[in-house]
Amino acid sequence: MHGPNLNLLGQREPSTYGRTTLEEINAQLQHEAKELHLELEIMQSNHEGILVEAIHAALGQYQGILINAAAYTHTSVALRDAISAVTLPTVEVHLSNIYKREEFRHHSLIAPVVIGQISGFGADSYLLGLHALADYLNRQPTESFEPLRTP
Ligand code: DQA
Repeated sequence: MHGPNLNLLGQREPSTYGRTTLEEINAQLQHEAKELHLELEIMQSNHEGILVEAIHAALGQYQGILINAAAYTHTSVALRDAISAVTLPTVEVHLSNIYKREEFRHHSLIAPVVIGQISGFGADSYLLGLHALADYLNRQPTESFEPLRTP
């Protein structure tokens, strides 16, 4: 799940975010997901409410969430509450090291409700995050792998 302005990756502040486009990141993620035998659905939105609704919709559909909430990381109580509400294992990623940047980026509102955070490895942050999520899911008991099974 990609948050605001990440659709501009490749052309947006390349000295901070690199030259890899979102399309290229998504292709790398799909390739890696296949290797990990995971099915991955990818979305990007510049709208907070759309991201909140996508998190809600993930419940019962997916086993986990990999998210770069971008600027909403630092501002959105709504996203944090949505992640907290669905209780799906979530990994937070950032291309840049948010702790090395302006002070307003040092605080993540979603960090306390995710499994963990990967920050500062450029496009690789997403791949590392996907691996971290896959490893986490693989360590869970089998029941939690079957959210779609009806009682
Ligand atoms: C970002 C870091 C955020 O502070 C920023 O608002 C972004 C991208 C990153 O991936 O480094 O849009 O999440």
